[in-house]
Amino acid sequence: MRLEELETPALVVEKEAMERNMDKMTELLAGSKLKLRPHYKTHKSPWIAKMQLEKGAVGITCSKLSEAEDLADAGVENILIANQVVQPQKVKKLAALAGRCQLTVCVDQLNNIRDISREAVSAGTHVHCYVEMNIGMNRCGVDSFQECYELAKALEELPGVSYDGIQAYAGHLAHEYDTEKRERETAENEEYLKRLTAYLEERGISTKEVSGASTGTAYLKRNSGVYTEIQAGSYIFLDRSYGRLHLNLFEHALFVMATVISSHDSYFVIDAGVKSLCPDQDMPAVEGFDAVEVKINEEHMVFRGSHSYQVGDMVRVIPGHCCSTVNLYDEMYVVQNGRIIDKPAVTSRGKSQ
Ligand SMILES: Cc1ncc(COP(=O)(O)O)c(C=O)c1O
Repeated sequence: MRLEELETPALVVEKEAMERNMDKMTELLAGSKLKLRPHYKTHKSPWIAKMQLEKGAVGITCSKLSEAEDLADAGVENILIANQVVQPQKVKKLAALAGRCQLTVCVDQLNNIRDISREAVSAGTHVHCYVEMNIGMNRCGVDSFQECYELAKALEELPGVSYDGIQAYAGHLAHEYDTEKRERETAENEEYLKRLTAYLEERGISTKEVSGASTGTAYLKRNSGVYTEIQAGSYIFLDRSYGRLHLNLFEHALFVMATVISSHDSYFVIDAGVKSLCPDQDMPAVEGFDAVEVKINEEHMVFRGSHSYQVGDMVRVIPGHCCSTVNLYDEMYVVQNGRIIDKPAVTSRGKSQ
């Protein structure tokens, strides 16, 4: 099938650009002690996860239990849920899933650890755990060394679970456009984490892994004395919000093909709105068009500015946020040299449980 034959809006992946992004990340981490455990939330497709594993990723990070189940169904053997799983019925499923893969989950409270331990013992499985440390994002995670120590100790003492390390994700710095601030605060976080691991060590607890980092900060971890695992996700697609960081490392590889459905002197309208392009992190942009003003509705986007687009023209739209845009599609069209060569399912689309 040719690209022009697609019914729009349609999600399109430029395979060679995506592979170059994957290779770039491998190159960035080469020669360091850092392992890549890329985030599944970006593509939600086992087809891409397997490609990442073939290119050297040690495992896959995901956000949700239902995504982890999909990954295990697809044969992925090493999975991190970089999130808390607390509902009793989910903790049961978590413990069962640990019988099908090496499963790690984040924890930040003692009762949750006790629940996971109890269910793992009852299922005869073992759940690996990272204690989540809040390093400034103010989302999940404990706030003090003492709390981290208490949870790590409980994980070492209880059956069915283990303390495998720390999750330290600085999401508030991922899209920090002030480079000096992003780099300085990333370095400060590393110093803080070094002090934390030393504090634990002095109390007899050794930390195997320190996991975190995003597309916007992964390159700063090359010489990290503390991180061991990189969870970046968006680097494979580079959306508009990350494009604005001007990292000059990755290239746009994910697009939504759309059609111009109305054209006027000073603006044109495409057949894609928030139901096909998620603007939560940044506004989508028509590739090569510098809009003066952009409006987005459910099924339309309006681009104002001097243009020559005619009704029926197809445009490539760079998503504002790749992860939430992928989640709107059942399948992605894989393109190579202008031809569609594959149509893998976005298996975990909508899997937010
Ligand atoms: C826990 C966690 N790790 C890593 C990432 C980094 O992903 P990305 O590189 O797509 O920003 C995210 C992004 O939301 C995250 O929530």
